[in-house]
Amino acid sequence: MTMTEQLMIDGQKVGASDAGTFEVCDPSSGELLATVAKATKADVDRAVQAAHAALEAKAWGGAAPAERGRVMIRIAQALREQVEELATLESRDNGKPLRQARTDVQVAARYFEFFAGVADKIMGNTIPLGPGFLDYTVREPIGVSAQIIPWNYPIQIGARGVAPAIAAGCTVVLKPAEDAPMTALRLGEIALACGLPPGVLNVLPGTGPEAGAALASHPDINQLTFTGSVSVGIAVAKMAADNVVPVVMELGGKSPNIVFADADLDLTVQGVANAIFQNAGQTCSAGSRLLVQRTAHDEVVARLTDRAKAMRVGPGVSDPDMGPIISKKQLEMIEGYVKIGQREGAQVTAGGGRPSDPALGRGFFFQPTLLDRVSPEMRVAQEEIFGPVLAIITFDEIEEAIAIANRSQYGLVAGVWTRDINKALTVASRIKSGQVYINTYGAGGGVELPFGGYKKSGYGREKSLESLASYTQVKNVCVRFS
Ligand code: NAI
Ligand code: MG
Repeated sequence: MTMTEQLMIDGQKVGASDAGTFEVCDPSSGELLATVAKATKADVDRAVQAAHAALEAKAWGGAAPAERGRVMIRIAQALREQVEELATLESRDNGKPLRQARTDVQVAARYFEFFAGVADKIMGNTIPLGPGFLDYTVREPIGVSAQIIPWNYPIQIGARGVAPAIAAGCTVVLKPAEDAPMTALRLGEIALACGLPPGVLNVLPGTGPEAGAALASHPDINQLTFTGSVSVGIAVAKMAADNVVPVVMELGGKSPNIVFADADLDLTVQGVANAIFQNAGQTCSAGSRLLVQRTAHDEVVARLTDRAKAMRVGPGVSDPDMGPIISKKQLEMIEGYVKIGQREGAQVTAGGGRPSDPALGRGFFFQPTLLDRVSPEMRVAQEEIFGPVLAIITFDEIEEAIAIANRSQYGLVAGVWTRDINKALTVASRIKSGQVYINTYGAGGGVELPFGGYKKSGYGREKSLESLASYTQVKNVCVRFS
């Protein structure tokens, strides 16, 4: 059954201005999933104008902050009530295992719940200037937030940007990725049905070069949140810079898991495997480098190898351990990287190619893969592969581990596994990344925790109260009285 989807502009479902469409496929089968309206520059323009009008309208700009919170609570509830439908749709669109898709929907609901509670607590300060003066600050909504999201966690990343923006009183034009636009469209419909006024959340599926570029370069957006590749991030940041529009950039990483020999290996192996194989490694914060202390290397690699080989790969809706890669293009890129790694001298201990099961032949599947004997300067240790491929590097001493971990253009997340609090906190203090986890990797959805990059992983912080800085602007009011 093929679906037909439209754009959501100003609370209306509409076709593209030129009636153009694009096809979205199910990566588990390669089959057509939906035909989706392809937003044009003119559609983007209409959506930005609608978002501006909503900003000024009584129903949103004029509403009490607590009312924004109430609408957001209803959105959270609706997402939870529709978890099965939404998870199934996400699983078909993106390929991820059903239980991971359910988690994504729950996390999306949690974003709306968390920021619902914040809507009426965005406060300013009074600043003491002495007798005869009253000085105060107000945190005003920044305005129209343009959000360009990727295909790896559509509903989660959609909610991650939309929830804090609307809590702050902003309005949003959301452009989902062409590879997986379905649940972002549902989010727009659900929000409208829950009472979010028309124009507050506009959803415009379309291509990067057309709809994405039109949005990023639009002179009337007030802020831009981008998640995706470094190269496109740089391009859209330049477009926004031409209009002096501030941006939040979340550009992925090559995050290390550092395992010391004294770690609880049961916990560690499970954590390390999940950090790379979740979502088939297509995660900005994937733990894609394992730095393991030499004395534990053989045991850790043996256990990871057993685990990787035992994983069931299959269509997302069959709820396997790992689903397919999003597209043929990404699959071929991953294959290419494994070949590069082998040429560089890495040794495959698990996986390494497409699964042999003929039943999976038409989907974009790749096996959970371990590359052992990787050295820090190899391309597979430096470049984001964005697939289920773990690069394993051996170290002897803590200083060496820290140096290798930091020898990266990225700095999004790091994991440290040890029973020694001194080692754990030393690494945490010296690692150059936006998040550090000790004896865990991630914490549920991490909705409450600031998330963002050092170095080329990006700038600005999403999730948590820190994200509000991106969606508000400070006005200072100084009064003289006698
Ligand atoms: P991408 O960076 O091209 O796509 C991300 C978003 O940007 C999509 O919505 C896309 O339509 C949009 N976009 C693309 N070109 C644009 C342009 N010229 N102007 C405005 N918007 C544009 O990522 P892609 O090609 O899907 O994946 C390639 C690589 O990017 C992956 O292998 C991975 O390394 C990285 N990536 C990182 C993600 C993260 O979570 N940080 C998510 C997706 C990809
Ligand atoms: Mg898809």
